[in-house]
Amino acid sequence: MSKTAILEIDGKKYEFPVIVGTENEVAIDIEKLRGATGAITLDPGYKNSGSCKSEITFLDGEEGILRYRGYSIEDLADKADFLEVAYLLIFGELPNQAQLDKFENDIRKHTLVNEEMKSILEGFPKTAHPMGVLSSLTSALTAFNPKSVNVENEKEMYDAVCKTMGKFLVIATWTYRRRMGFPLNYYDNTKGYVENFMRLMFEIPTQPYKMDQKIVDALDKLFILHADHEQNCSTSTVRIVGSSHAGLFASISAGVSALWGPLHGGANQAVLEMLEEINNNGGDVAKYVLKAKDKDDPFRLMGFGHRVYKNFDPRATIIKKAADDVLDALGVDDPLLDIAKQLEKVALEDEYFKSRNLYPNVDFYSGIIYRAMGIPVEMFTVLFAIGRLPGWIAQWKEMRTNKEPIGRPRQVYTGSPSRSFKEVNQR
Ligand code: ACO
Repeated sequence: MSKTAILEIDGKKYEFPVIVGTENEVAIDIEKLRGATGAITLDPGYKNSGSCKSEITFLDGEEGILRYRGYSIEDLADKADFLEVAYLLIFGELPNQAQLDKFENDIRKHTLVNEEMKSILEGFPKTAHPMGVLSSLTSALTAFNPKSVNVENEKEMYDAVCKTMGKFLVIATWTYRRRMGFPLNYYDNTKGYVENFMRLMFEIPTQPYKMDQKIVDALDKLFILHADHEQNCSTSTVRIVGSSHAGLFASISAGVSALWGPLHGGANQAVLEMLEEINNNGGDVAKYVLKAKDKDDPFRLMGFGHRVYKNFDPRATIIKKAADDVLDALGVDDPLLDIAKQLEKVALEDEYFKSRNLYPNVDFYSGIIYRAMGIPVEMFTVLFAIGRLPGWIAQWKEMRTNKEPIGRPRQVYTGSPSRSFKEVNQR
């Protein structure tokens, strides 16, 4: 028998359906709430509100479970590669070899970016943050690809997916090349996607580029871990922008802006800046832990805590191991790493952090790996965006395919009641 929830307002009872998800997640369906009662719900930060039904990603913050399309993140990080996972997220099933080869080849058809995009890039000061530039360039892609995709046409949708995957990677790396004053690189269609990322970033015309396979493998894993995370801030942004039927590039551009913030994807950069600050101030980890606990001090330990993981972040467990492997393989000896390890230990043993279930999140470790790989700190969040791209595309596609209505929350108005206008000389 289907469950219902009863709500009583002013002595009158209303019944609402209760929806149960595949993993027994329970939700009260309040779609008819306002119509029936005149009331709305208030839930700042949407901590208790589901914005959609989704078949893409399941996560259980209490148990530390993350699955893409039913497959555990542990299995995917261990056995699949990034493009396989991208295909899985976007199209719903793991590709067979022929589908995977075709996907990779079709992405390659779209890896050339219109040369006129270069003049847009040159319009930015070199000091501009790469995330701001990336968001603008992604939006600018709309100007060069003005035809909006017909989501009901499978072929058009597939092409739009490949185009976005191809061009986004290139422009993402261009933000770095421009900042460094290096000539812009082109995708090499004889090489893999993640390998291309490294080349696009680091190959310079004056000397041969030596690729370190361990770095490529670790990066591939990092991209997989970041590929989707259900209705987080940037993904919800992509869905809500797309819900107005704005195009895919415009929606992804908004997602990049949302990801930029230090409470979201910007945290990996913030982690490194925090470790640098601790190091520059004598490496006193305990002092910073005290600061983080002090309610009068706005300082927070960056890379600790998570909105949904209140036990542990399963991605952090995988990435911690990857970090150890990469740092061992590269023989990195980094004082910031020692500080990170001390911080992790102190915080994990401290009652304040224990009682609030504050554990290192994925960003705590990803920043450390990126630094060891020689990736500059301002590019950390761009790497997160490259990893998250398949998730954004998958969620946008699902939202449009399900014909979801335009996202338009309500509010409780707490401003002044109606008042009469006063002429300027009477104010
Ligand atoms: N350092 C110190 N105290 C913290 C931290 C932290 N990093 N995170 C949370 N707290 C404390 C809060 O002060 C609060 O304490 P109180 O109950 O005494 O008031 C309690 O823990 C709960 O914190 P909230 O802010 O209510 O938790 P919320 O779920 O809203 O926030 C967030 C989650 C934003 C991630 C937060 O933990 C944070 O700011 N962390 C640092 C930034 C960070 O690492 N972000 C990356 C997130 S992961 C990602 O985007 C991939």
